[in-house]
Amino acid sequence: MDHINGQGRSELFEAQSFIYKHVFSFMDSMSLKCAVQLGIPDAIHNHNQPITLPELASAIQVPPEKTSRLHQLMRLLVHSGFFAMQKVDENQEGYVLTPPSRLLVKGNATSLAPIVLGMLDPVLVTPWHFLGSWLQGSSLTAFEAAHGMDLWNYGNQNPEFFSLIGEIMATDSRMMSLAIRECKEIFEGLSSLVDVGGGTGTMARGICEAFPHLKCTVLDLPQVVANLPKSENLDYVGGDMFQSIPSADAIFIKSVLHNWGDEDCVKILKRCREAIPSSAEGGKVIIIDLVLSNKKDEHELAKTKLFNDMMMMVLVAGKERCEEEWEKLFLEAGFSHYKITPRFGVLSLIEVYP
Ligand SMILES: C[S@@+](CC[C@H](N)C(=O)[O-])C[C@H]1O[C@@H](n2cnc3c(N)ncnc32)[C@H](O)[C@@H]1O
Repeated sequence: MDHINGQGRSELFEAQSFIYKHVFSFMDSMSLKCAVQLGIPDAIHNHNQPITLPELASAIQVPPEKTSRLHQLMRLLVHSGFFAMQKVDENQEGYVLTPPSRLLVKGNATSLAPIVLGMLDPVLVTPWHFLGSWLQGSSLTAFEAAHGMDLWNYGNQNPEFFSLIGEIMATDSRMMSLAIRECKEIFEGLSSLVDVGGGTGTMARGICEAFPHLKCTVLDLPQVVANLPKSENLDYVGGDMFQSIPSADAIFIKSVLHNWGDEDCVKILKRCREAIPSSAEGGKVIIIDLVLSNKKDEHELAKTKLFNDMMMMVLVAGKERCEEEWEKLFLEAGFSHYKITPRFGVLSLIEVYP
């Protein structure tokens, strides 16, 4: 029989397999979390040559009776591209790192291990179970539907969660602050810069080190910047970006605008506009954020961007924007032109001029 319920048999089973793959996709995330929790990338890295299954089991303290279970976990992670197999000798193969798992070895400046553990923390995963009821209900976000308060208030009441969010952001910024060192032209002609919503200053410290002539100020909420160590060209100011932003040649604002709806973004951008000199005098706003629907995006990158968009919606009532949406915000806030450069993987550099 080639047809079942009016559908071709192979088409039907392909569709079934497609659904199963998506139903089970959370196993990709959870297996990855398990690998990072157990320190599998670190064990492989420290072994300095392909590591066999029994060697790996011993390194991460998995008892012999569970070695075959570890094999099952590793088989999925190899299939996903996190690890690869290489010959140890004539008879044996061992696991080696791949470019993604090299980024999961703990302790490196570029390690993304805290992102894996942080983003998959139950506090951030639980709101996804509330997506449908939130859409039909009145809470502002699925996070609020799940936890009874918004993410920022939850952070204020739970210091551990507050640190977790700080660590996720700092981890993302550590990698970016290394990349930004190569971007001298962005900072050319500037002598001062304010990093708006700059958190605990990971980005600003990187910029200050790479461009010591630049005086950087981090503006963030008072409780975020309290008691942080200043240096000769790095200062912290506690304040509210909706009220006022300290004056500087340029404003730097990374991964902040996507946390907010359009009206709030226009308010923040207006405060940015007030803080900088005219275009002729070199004033500009440097935004590092995501731009959706770039036609050149490959399928995987486009998907990662859509995941980010959903995350903003679920956690903080924010959203990612396509170029037309960004342009509308800039014009409404009184800017005259802008330039988008897709530059940092999922994130773009957006320079906006008065
Ligand atoms: C998603 S984090 C981005 C942090 C940093 N720019 C980065 O990329 O690592 C958003 C930041 O905005 C800050 N923030 C939220 N509301 C603010 C306000 N009204 N004024 C200043 N900063 C604010 C938060 O404290 C947080 O550090």
